[in-house]
Amino acid sequence: MNVLIADKFEKAGVENLRGLGCEVIQDPELAGDTLRDAAAKTACEVLVVRSTKVPAEIMDAAKNLKLIIRAGSGYDTIDSAGAAKRNIRVCNCPGMNAVAVAELTLGLMIAIDRRIADNVVDLRKGVWNKKEYGKARGLKGRTLGIVGLGRIGCEVAQRAAAFDMNLLYTDIIERKDMEEKLGLRKVELDQLLAEADFISLHVPGGEGTKHFISEAELGKMKPTAVLLNCSRGGVIDEKALAKAIETGKIGGAGLDVYEIEPKATDKDFADPVVRVPRVYGTHHIGASTDQAQGAVADEVVRIIENFKNSGIFINCVNEAK
Ligand code: MLT
Repeated sequence: MNVLIADKFEKAGVENLRGLGCEVIQDPELAGDTLRDAAAKTACEVLVVRSTKVPAEIMDAAKNLKLIIRAGSGYDTIDSAGAAKRNIRVCNCPGMNAVAVAELTLGLMIAIDRRIADNVVDLRKGVWNKKEYGKARGLKGRTLGIVGLGRIGCEVAQRAAAFDMNLLYTDIIERKDMEEKLGLRKVELDQLLAEADFISLHVPGGEGTKHFISEAELGKMKPTAVLLNCSRGGVIDEKALAKAIETGKIGGAGLDVYEIEPKATDKDFADPVVRVPRVYGTHHIGASTDQAQGAVADEVVRIIENFKNSGIFINCVNEAK
């Protein structure tokens, strides 16, 4: 079975796939036309991607392709409806990187409250400014609103509870177990936006959530509120966010994801939102810990092993037509 990996991927995962008898071809530089050509030339049955986009043209060129695996949780970078029409299954690795994303979310929250990055930048310039940076409010007793209490949202809640924060959430599913365990309260989105000091988004990307947080929602937040997004960039209207922060409608933001993200191999990033003071941006690294990437690679191997040996598609997110 030929497996094409068009992104960075754990070495141990590649070895395990070879151990299963797969022919593994890996090239993290592939994208667009080069991916289309490689998919055709390698006659791959399985394509594994992380950041690399997979539109329908790639599927048309890959005549033997049966399975596309997103080495992560979200799969909005893959045309999964187009894949279904072509009888190609799309599978993902849900939950494998949830702890890593939650850790970054908490990291951003503390970093913003204490202005850690600004502290570091000033010290590197030789500036001592205890007076300015000694003004944090602290997290204890403050309210975190979690939008989307899935696997990542639950990991965030658990960690925030250890900081003695008040926890609100909104989701279509009621999580009585989490409410009892951590004292979470389920509220409507408007109430969450109005009451939370920190609002953390953990919803899937794609058309259904595009600009889910826009001018109207930002207008419902406290002037000191901090918006955190380690989910997908398109969920926030970035222009509206920049304006809300610049005009003092909200306090700031911690962003790991952006409306338009560069390819993993690109070196430049010109998104104006990251230059707004009181925006703390990271480079879409939520899932990028060794622990998370190891777990994702193991899951990818498990998916391929099941497909290869039994024709079973684990974590399939599209029904083949
Ligand atoms: C995810 O969808 O789980 C993340 O975007 C994964 C990643 O950054 O690799």
